[in-house]
Amino acid sequence: MNRIILNETSYFGAGCRSVIAQEAARRGFKKAFFVTDKDLIKFGVAAQVIHVFEANQIPYELYSDVKANPTIANVQNGVKAYKASGADFIVALGGGSSIDTAKGIGIVVNNPEFADVKSLEGVADTKHKAVPTFALPTTAGTAAEVTINYVIIDEEARKKMVCVDPNDIPAVAIVDPELMYSMPKGLTAATGMDALTHAIESFITPGAWAMSDMFELKAIEMIAQNLKAAVDNGQDTVAREAMSQAQYIAGMGFSNVGLGIVHSMAHPLGAFYDTPHGVANALLLPYVMEYNAESAAASKYIQIAKAMGVDTTGMTQAEGVSAAIESVKTLSLSIHIPQRLSEINVKEADIPSLAVAAFNDVCTGGNPRPTSVEDIEAIYRKAF
Ligand SMILES: NC(=O)c1ccc[n+]([C@@H]2O[C@H](COP(=O)([O-])OP(=O)(O)OC[C@H]3O[C@@H](n4cnc5c(N)ncnc54)[C@H](O)[C@@H]3O)[C@@H](O)[C@H]2O)c1
Ligand SMILES: [Fe+2]
Repeated sequence: MNRIILNETSYFGAGCRSVIAQEAARRGFKKAFFVTDKDLIKFGVAAQVIHVFEANQIPYELYSDVKANPTIANVQNGVKAYKASGADFIVALGGGSSIDTAKGIGIVVNNPEFADVKSLEGVADTKHKAVPTFALPTTAGTAAEVTINYVIIDEEARKKMVCVDPNDIPAVAIVDPELMYSMPKGLTAATGMDALTHAIESFITPGAWAMSDMFELKAIEMIAQNLKAAVDNGQDTVAREAMSQAQYIAGMGFSNVGLGIVHSMAHPLGAFYDTPHGVANALLLPYVMEYNAESAAASKYIQIAKAMGVDTTGMTQAEGVSAAIESVKTLSLSIHIPQRLSEINVKEADIPSLAVAAFNDVCTGGNPRPTSVEDIEAIYRKAF
C-alpha cells in the first residue's frame, strides 16, 4: 500500500502571498497568529506578509521567538502566546525553523497532552489536527510547508527530534518566490542542496514508488538546472521560481516515502554544533551516496545522473553510479559548499557519539542499505 498526504490547497508564483486574504475569508478565520523569526523581520521579509494583513484588515499577533534549529522552548513559549492571542489560525513564514515551530505549536494547542513536546518525537499518536496553518516558505529547501514532519531540538538531551504526524500538515501552502529573493548566497546554496538531498534520498529509499519517483526525478532535474543560477544571482526570477517549486515537488515525495542516513547524520550536527541543516546535508550527501551505491539502490543512480543533466547513453550501471556521485559533487563545489566536516568545526572526538545519535534517528529506517553504528562512524570519519 502507498499513501500520499498533501496540503488541502497550495499556491505558487511571484506575489501569490496575497491569497492569504481570500483563504482566510473563505475559511472564516478572524485573527492570525504570525510565526516567524527575527532575521526575517530584520531583512524585511515579514513586512511583505504584514502588508497583506494590513491591506486586508486582518488582525494578527506576531510571534518571533524562533531560533534557527528551533528548540522545545520555542514551541512551548509559542503555545502560551497563541493561547493568549485570541487567534484562530496560524500563518507561518520562514525557513524550516519557523514553519516547524509553528507546526509544533499548532499540534500542542489542539493536543495538550503532548505539552512536554518530547513525547511528540517519532510517530506520535495525536488525535486532533493542528490549528489550521498557512505556511509560506522563505527558503527553497526544507519543503516544511508540504511535509508531515517537523524537527525540534531537545537541548537537554542534545538531540534533534524528528516528529512525524499527518495532523501537522499545513492546510494551505503559499509558495511565493518573492519571499526568497533576499536569501544570501550561502543560504540559497545550502537550502537548495537540502532539497536535492531530499530528492535523492527519497528516490532511492525502499518505499519509493511510481508517484514519488516522478516527483523526485523532476525535482532533481529542476535543481540541477536552476540552483547555481539562483546562487549566482539572487534576483534571477526564473531560477528563484523554479527552485521554489522544485523544493516543494521534492517534499511531496519525501514526506510520504521517507529519507535516509544523510538526514540521520545531519541531525546530530545540528544538535551538537548548530550546523545549518542544508550545509550538513550538502556536505554528507556524496559520501552517503558512495556508501549506498553498494545496495539494490545502485540500479537507480543512472536515472539520478540523467536528471542531473549527464548524457547517460550507453552507460553501464557502475558508470551511472560514478556519474551520479560526480555530478552532485560538481554542483556542490560550484556553489562553494564546504567538503569536509573538519572545515565546519565538527570535533573528531565527538564522532562516536554522533554516530550513535545518527543511527537512532527516525530517518535511518528509510536508508536503502542496512546500516550500523560502525558504518555510520566510518562515513563520518571519511567526511572529516
Ligand atoms: N519539516 C521538514 O520536513 C523539514 C525538512 C528538512 C529540514 N527541516 C528543518 O528545518 C530547519 C532548517 O530550515 P532552513 O534550512 O529553511 O533554514 P532556517 O529556517 O533555519 O533559517 C536559517 C536562517 O536563514 C534566515 N532566512 C530564511 N529565509 C530568509 C530569506 N528569505 N532572506 C534572508 N534570510 C532568510 C532565517 O531567518 C534564519 O536566520 C532545520 O531545523 C531542519 O532540521 C525540516
Ligand atoms: Fe532536509
